[in-house]
Amino acid sequence: MDRLTDTYGRVVDYLRVSLTDTCNFRCTYCVPPEGVAPSLPGSMMSANEVVRLVRVASGMGIRRVRLTGGEPLLRPDLLEIVAGIKRSARIEDLSITTNGSRLAPLLAPLRQAGLDRINISLDALDRQRFQDLCGVDAYPQVRGAFEDAVSMGFPVKLNVVAVRGLSYDEVLGFTRIAREYPVEVRFLEFMPLCGSSWRPELVIPIDIIRRIVKEHVELVADGPRGAEVAESCRVGGGLGRIGFIGSLTESFCDSCSRVRVTSEGQVRPCLFSDVEVPLGEALRHGAGDAGIADALRLAVRLKPAGNLYRERPFDRSGASESHIVSAVMKKIGG
Ligand code: 5AD
Ligand code: SF4
Repeated sequence: MDRLTDTYGRVVDYLRVSLTDTCNFRCTYCVPPEGVAPSLPGSMMSANEVVRLVRVASGMGIRRVRLTGGEPLLRPDLLEIVAGIKRSARIEDLSITTNGSRLAPLLAPLRQAGLDRINISLDALDRQRFQDLCGVDAYPQVRGAFEDAVSMGFPVKLNVVAVRGLSYDEVLGFTRIAREYPVEVRFLEFMPLCGSSWRPELVIPIDIIRRIVKEHVELVADGPRGAEVAESCRVGGGLGRIGFIGSLTESFCDSCSRVRVTSEGQVRPCLFSDVEVPLGEALRHGAGDAGIADALRLAVRLKPAGNLYRERPFDRSGASESHIVSAVMKKIGG
């Protein structure tokens, strides 16, 4: 088979497809204060185009697909896309990343359509802080959808962006969730992907979070990290896992196995680079699959060795270590 291998020998088997760049939340760490320009009407890939893209990609060794956004649950044809992918492509692991606000009523239909896993973004465990952070009073809906998804037996990951304001108590709250539920809580370092809403002093280096978590639970590594971006550990004596994604301070580019496609059909070799390979006409009805395969191959060839933080690790001096450490100190009386 024609596997997707980049110039550094990394095999790409993971495709992230954005289904829309619109969202019903306005998370402060994602949406810059000046807002984002809406995409042109009709510029998004259609359901057929997404399914076709994934089918061609699966013929090139893509085995894992994640549907993202914006908020992918805003797509009215989401179930058609999920079912179409499961029907026509050999994808072992089809997952979705959602803000969870509209998830609860879709859980059963998504299961029926063949969805394998769900990542829910949940950055706060307090209703007011959730609203301050995400711009919407939706904590009860998101929490409810989380509970329902777990009860239904979906493998669930909770994504928590570690951005200044995340408190010691909240880290403990998320740690408790990882102990009491069979889910993985993943703390994500705040990445500069969002123009002016990123500032170094808003970053909490992931090791700070790890240290807090380790004061309270035993973390058990079970096997090599492999191509996973997250260092993920079992919680000793608990039901779940905790992952730490240090995109800036603990770069994992060397084991990167992914490419992304924007909702408008541009293949992006790396999250941190602006390089895009347009699928354009290749995706349109009537065009052959070869054009899609060529665009994927080219994008994989253009994958950089790593992002700039790999070569020049993030300068932590401005980051909010002192802020959260002082909270730790208060707690432990240090
Ligand atoms: N840094 C880190 N994580 C982010 N996310 C969105 N923007 C950022 C950022 N700048 C998270 C979302 C979601 C996941 C796909 O990425 O919360 O869970
Ligand atoms: Fe951005 Fe996701 Fe928040 Fe929407 S829910 S604003 S896409 S981080």
